[in-house]
Amino acid sequence: MAVAAARSDNLPHELTSFVGREREIAAVKQALSATRLLTLSGVGGAGKTRLALRVAGDLVPAYADGVWLVELGALADPAQVPRAVAEVVGVREPPGGDLWASLFEALGPRRLLLVLDNCEHLVMACATLAARLLRACPDLKILATSREALDVSGEVVWRVPPLGAPDLAAGLLPPERWTGTEAVRLFVERAAAALPGFALDARNAAPVARVCARLDGLPLAIDLDG
Ligand SMILES: Nc1ncnc2c1ncn2[C@@H]1O[C@H](COP(=O)(O)OP(=O)(O)O)[C@@H](O)[C@H]1O
Ligand SMILES: [Mg+2]
Repeated sequence: MAVAAARSDNLPHELTSFVGREREIAAVKQALSATRLLTLSGVGGAGKTRLALRVAGDLVPAYADGVWLVELGALADPAQVPRAVAEVVGVREPPGGDLWASLFEALGPRRLLLVLDNCEHLVMACATLAARLLRACPDLKILATSREALDVSGEVVWRVPPLGAPDLAAGLLPPERWTGTEAVRLFVERAAAALPGFALDARNAAPVARVCARLDGLPLAIDLDG
């Protein structure tokens, strides 16, 4: 059974610029090299999906049969999780047949990375899927994003930290200590996109730093505020 077409990934192009996370990208790759199921966890808006997609994009050349994103955020029915994977990897459900068997047959010999994005509302179904696929497909790895761990044997949970942000307790001077932080950089990028010409200056720098610090470096909040 064929796995998808000639393309070796289905990762979306980024719609907005990506800021920082160099250390996290390296750490996630390292963690994924040592496990077959890595779950990026953390609160909503922590940046799990963006981080996973960055890592996945970098790893496309490392997987002979590609890197495949299964976007689960909009899926309401847990029973549809295996079908969502099958669709992405190009496995047809045999009429009256066993979808699991088809998945195992197609993916069993493949060396691929499956990215299960936004598992939080389908944790049990994703856990079952991960456990079954990992058992049946020796060269398959899974990178999941979920507020909560899947709680599958062999899973490594990697907590996504907030963006680096100004430390108000340490005082805002000198500015060179915080203008380069990831949170401030994200704020400035989003503000400049909304308001062409926006840049940090002597008047807005301290308020921007305070906003980023109060938002605890949470990317979603800074995205909306910036
Ligand atoms: N490193 C980053 N650079 C730029 N924008 C980011 C970054 N991380 C997250 N964001 C933005 O913050 C918001 C939340 O990120 P997302 O990855 O969807 O969080 P989660 O998956 O944890 O809910 C999104 O709009 C995303 O584009
Ligand atoms: Mg997400």
